[in-house]
Amino acid sequence: MSKPVSLEKKNHIALITINNPPVNALGQAVRSGLIEKIEEAEQDSEVKAIILRGEDKCFSAGADISEFGKTRLEPHLPDVCNRIEASSKPVVAAIHGTTLGGGFEVALSAHYRIALSSTKIGLPEVHLGILPGAGGTQRLPRIAGVHAALEMMTTGKPVSVKKGAEINLIDRLVEDKLMESALSFTEEIIGKEFKKSRDRNDGVSDSSKNEASLKLFRETLEKTAGGLYSPFRIVDAVEAALSLPFDEGLKKERELFIDCMNSPQSKGLIHAFFSERKCAKFPESKTEARKLETVGVIGGGTMGSGITIAALDAGFEVTMVERDEDSIKRGQKNVEKVYNRHIEKGRMTKEQVGSVLKRYKPSTSFEDLGDVDMVIEAVFEEMSVKQGVFEKLDKVIKPGAVLASNTSYLDIDQLASKTNRPQDVIGLHFFSPANLMKLLEIVVPSKVSKDVVSTGIKLAKKMRKVPVRAGNCDGFIGNRILGSYGKVALFIMEDGATPYQIDEAIREFGYPIGPFEMFDLAGGDIGWANRKRSASTRKKEDRYVHIPDRLCENGWFGQKTGRGYYLYEEGSRKGKQDPEVLKIIEEERSKKGIKPRSFTNEEVIERYLAAMINEASNVLYEEVATRPSDIDVVELYGYAFPRFRGGPMKYADMIGPEKVLNDIREFAKEDPIFWKPSPLLEKLVKEGKSFENLN
Ligand code: 3HC
Ligand code: NAI
Repeated sequence: MSKPVSLEKKNHIALITINNPPVNALGQAVRSGLIEKIEEAEQDSEVKAIILRGEDKCFSAGADISEFGKTRLEPHLPDVCNRIEASSKPVVAAIHGTTLGGGFEVALSAHYRIALSSTKIGLPEVHLGILPGAGGTQRLPRIAGVHAALEMMTTGKPVSVKKGAEINLIDRLVEDKLMESALSFTEEIIGKEFKKSRDRNDGVSDSSKNEASLKLFRETLEKTAGGLYSPFRIVDAVEAALSLPFDEGLKKERELFIDCMNSPQSKGLIHAFFSERKCAKFPESKTEARKLETVGVIGGGTMGSGITIAALDAGFEVTMVERDEDSIKRGQKNVEKVYNRHIEKGRMTKEQVGSVLKRYKPSTSFEDLGDVDMVIEAVFEEMSVKQGVFEKLDKVIKPGAVLASNTSYLDIDQLASKTNRPQDVIGLHFFSPANLMKLLEIVVPSKVSKDVVSTGIKLAKKMRKVPVRAGNCDGFIGNRILGSYGKVALFIMEDGATPYQIDEAIREFGYPIGPFEMFDLAGGDIGWANRKRSASTRKKEDRYVHIPDRLCENGWFGQKTGRGYYLYEEGSRKGKQDPEVLKIIEEERSKKGIKPRSFTNEEVIERYLAAMINEASNVLYEEVATRPSDIDVVELYGYAFPRFRGGPMKYADMIGPEKVLNDIREFAKEDPIFWKPSPLLEKLVKEGKSFENLN
């Protein structure tokens, strides 16, 4: 295998190239290769200057994240950066593509930077729960100034090199021919005195302004960091850049880096990074997808219009079909409303919107779908209505077109059975709002062909969504698990906690909102209709909490009716506690003879999470989900599970599957019907394994 770092000479310039596909991550072999080649260039008397570059699509996307959590092998990246900076010959970093994290820190340690204008630079470490740990926190403020450095590092957002050039980060920008330009730029600087960033103090000289920046960022992060630890440590590291000599500052950065790396938050966030990439790997991924250029959407309600917008944004031609003139007008309005808002907010021009909407065709005739490559159905959640739609579609759409349903719960096989082409029928479960939410559950029924599944993945990629493979069962992965912990929230409420305390506990855990705030947001009427439909099949022995029905009987459906678990003042989304809701809860408790008891927030979390993890284990046991990390992705992207905890399966591993099982056994003493330990969880504990072992 060829070495990941090579050196070639162009006259008196040494060209050092990183070649470690796919993103030139700076693993151990690259790090030692860089030191070796810098030293080789230094010792070569013919060489007068050095260019550092990356092969293929980028300079480097940073440290090799797959090495995190393992034994740290020398040389460490900060040593590599220091060695580059200490070079007796000038080093020019020629950067392109995404130059991120440690990759950008390597570039910062060079004496000059030349960049292709399409390059994105950034320090996204904060998204992994860590901080730039190869001198970035010390070099960036010295070059770009404290405020700009804090902005880049605490948000982790990449910036264009055009912006980078404005803050001294780039010495020359070129439109194309990066290597030719880098060679001529290097010729220009040969013989000139070059400055190391450690010797610069442009960014850190104005102390009162810098103190104010540190204060401002600390105060803002208190409100915006959402419980994250590492953004504050980034500010601490920048403070060290202001108050300590460079080498001492580097030592402080290393300490803070290791501190963050050892935090549970970084473990959760790194797990989320890899899980998100792994979930797109389906057994069907390698099968060639079918042609996919035009999409039909049936239904222009909440989901139909969201899916239409997602498809338009992805560049498809979209035909939306509704049942009658009034409904299609409403559907069209739903679509236009979103684009008009883009114009109002300055996100798109009128002309841009006009050109997108040229690809949108509203219709009331199924015949207009005759030629589309894929139809996604989003009509009412009623088996008979959906089956009617599938029967009709079977008659009009061309052979080979994919037939998808966006159902939340219904059996896709039963829909497929209404067609003469079950091999073409699949579930594509979007989340609301479908144009914004990134998760797409691809539900694989028994008779679907592999290329249809792979066409679903293709759709997800084009829409920039995160696809997760799900088996065909009631609620698939996400809604099935939600059914379980949703019930537990009701049990805890009926047993003694208020909905407001439960919401508070869940928010403290890291969710943006609690389950009762969520019910109010989504609207209680949908769940109520479902419960009435399934009332006849409900088992007598199962515990049933009537409180949500009582609220719905009063017409309290949540935000849209100004009242649900909370009271909403006209136009406000922020609800107030409602004493009348508490009265209803009291009444229901006394009807059942329940003596209310108190719960700590910790107890609320224990029960809520135990229910989630237990049902998730069942989902895995029944092979509805492919791997535990897929469930994590569903919960992170579909249900706002706090990302820094990695997802419920990662959380279970962190607290220990045995603790979860013991909790469930304890709760089963009160309600053995609901709290049945999943066979998979029992097996894991018996074998001393973790969910990670199943990934
Ligand atoms: N380390 C290890 N593997 C990485 C990686 C990294 N830094 N970045 C990407 N990869 C892997 C991915 O896991 C994926 O592997 P797979 O094909 O086996 O699934 C492959 O590279 C391609 O990645 P993507 O699918 O994400 O490709 P995209 O083209 O969509 O995105 C990217 C490319 C923008 C570079 C994106 O991968 C990314 O954001 N990477 C992470 C960048 C990052 O966070 N860098 C900081 C690392 S921490 C650090 O540098 C610490 C330092 O301060 C000491
Ligand atoms: P909705 O009530 O807002 O829209 C349904 C639309 O379907 C209505 O506009 C109606 O006119 C149209 N329709 C009904 N029968 C039709 C027919 N025979 N032909 C053409 N159009 C017809 O419902 P919503 O919320 O958009 O849900 C649609 C589907 O998406 C359901 O299956 C639901 O379970 C699922 N879903 C809903 C989510 C949500 O948060 N609302 C999330 C994910 C899936």
